[in-house]
Amino acid sequence: MDIKHIGPRNGEWAFVGEVSGIDLTRPLDAAQVAAIDAGMDRYGVLVFHGQHFTDEQQVAFSVNFGALEPGVSNVTKPQDRRLQLNIADISNLDKDNQLLGRDDKRRMFNLGNMLWHSDSSFKATPAKYSLLSGRAVPTHGGETQFADMRAAYESFPEDIKALIEPMVTEHSLLYSRALLGFTEFDEEERQAFAPVLQRLVRVHPSTGRKSVFLSSHIGIIRGMPTPEARMLVRDLTEAATQPNFVHTHHWRAGDLVVWDNRATMHRARRYNDTGEVRDMRRTTIEGTPTVMQQAA
Ligand SMILES: [Fe+2]
Repeated sequence: MDIKHIGPRNGEWAFVGEVSGIDLTRPLDAAQVAAIDAGMDRYGVLVFHGQHFTDEQQVAFSVNFGALEPGVSNVTKPQDRRLQLNIADISNLDKDNQLLGRDDKRRMFNLGNMLWHSDSSFKATPAKYSLLSGRAVPTHGGETQFADMRAAYESFPEDIKALIEPMVTEHSLLYSRALLGFTEFDEEERQAFAPVLQRLVRVHPSTGRKSVFLSSHIGIIRGMPTPEARMLVRDLTEAATQPNFVHTHHWRAGDLVVWDNRATMHRARRYNDTGEVRDMRRTTIEGTPTVMQQAA
């Protein structure tokens, strides 16, 4: 297995590695898993080509890195799911593999994936790795962009680092979707998507590197007036997603991209989603809470 650095470099730090010489559809040994983990710590994002997974093979590969997230949070009802519950359906298809209509609630909800975010930051236990398998990709657009939240944090002036160090934020799908004017949630969804607390600065458990834990799911900074908090989050996000911190992945069918949500943000880019199929399937490894949850 070989890893080539393909993303931007900030100081001594690498971001995004392209891996060759390994078949992830077959069982791996402990040394191979350790090499991938070490690559994840170093690069934050790893790109593998030519990995034509079945869902079962993708799950088998994923659990080398921890426990799968138990379920998926979105507005698709269980009876309308296309995929098994432990695989997030990152597609524009319904359960009969037909394109979602323009006004479909699920499509409008999914458009929120085009906002910068960290997966499952709206859960008390946010995600560790996301593993996204490209099964069918559109001819134009539909890229995924990644931003390095370690390098971004390290670029902040000392006064900003000191300001944000103690801050605790509230994350919710209700906040990110409201940014797009999408507020069609029923009472059950409002309860399921109730805000959770996360630290704004986090320390990576393996590398010890600090990063800024941003996400479009943030709506509140504890103890700060909301407009002031949202302006600060907006400023930090703008600074953290400048081109020197960002890598764009152009998908080919058979690509697997693995990213560490504890060190990065990502977003999808526009494509003709009412005319072309984009079938991506994500398995997600559970991380650890960043803060004790307390009653609001
Ligand atoms: Fe995501």
